[in-house]
Amino acid sequence: MKVVIDGQSVEAEEGWTVLDTARYYGVDIPTLCHKEGLSPYSACRLCVVEVRRGERSKMVASCSCPVEEGMQVITKSERVLKARRMILELMLASTPNSKTLQCLASKHGLTKVRFKGESRDCILCGLCVRMCDEQMMGGAIAFAHRGVERKVSMPFHKTPEACRECGACLYICPVCELPCQGPMEPGELCNACLDELRLDPFPSGD
Ligand code: FES
Repeated sequence: MKVVIDGQSVEAEEGWTVLDTARYYGVDIPTLCHKEGLSPYSACRLCVVEVRRGERSKMVASCSCPVEEGMQVITKSERVLKARRMILELMLASTPNSKTLQCLASKHGLTKVRFKGESRDCILCGLCVRMCDEQMMGGAIAFAHRGVERKVSMPFHKTPEACRECGACLYICPVCELPCQGPMEPGELCNACLDELRLDPFPSGD
């Protein structure tokens, strides 16, 4: 089918998502909760793009939105970039030292975080849960509670027998890695990552 991405008409296969199509043609869309080989979860919304049909447009998560004939996708409109900056800012409010988030924030031109959040070092992206369940066949962790109490947990807060301590959950976590070392006041982003970004423009690891 024919799809237009950022003004370029391209061919997409039935069953592809907008993200699949964009990446196939080398168009960068940042992601956090998406990984090849794991089921889509659409938790972070960082992959947001604008889809236009005639005069109407809507914002969708590209990782779970299937392509349709004649779809017009805009991956970097001001509306899209503003939404991504807001998402990153909100995530950084509760996970300020994540190097992945710091790098993505720098790449999106963020220099400050205006919000204060309770630090919890988890963005609830669900990658660890899906990795354990779908790739390691462990099923040792899951989400517990709802709303602001929601968190990844083990049953009864004890390591279950199903856990082989393989470390795959830590390996795939976008915020469990080495914390950002930049000199920062609370709420400031040092943007030191920008030098690294020139070497690796896609730090999300996908
Ligand atoms: S990557 Fe699409 S919602 Fe997270």
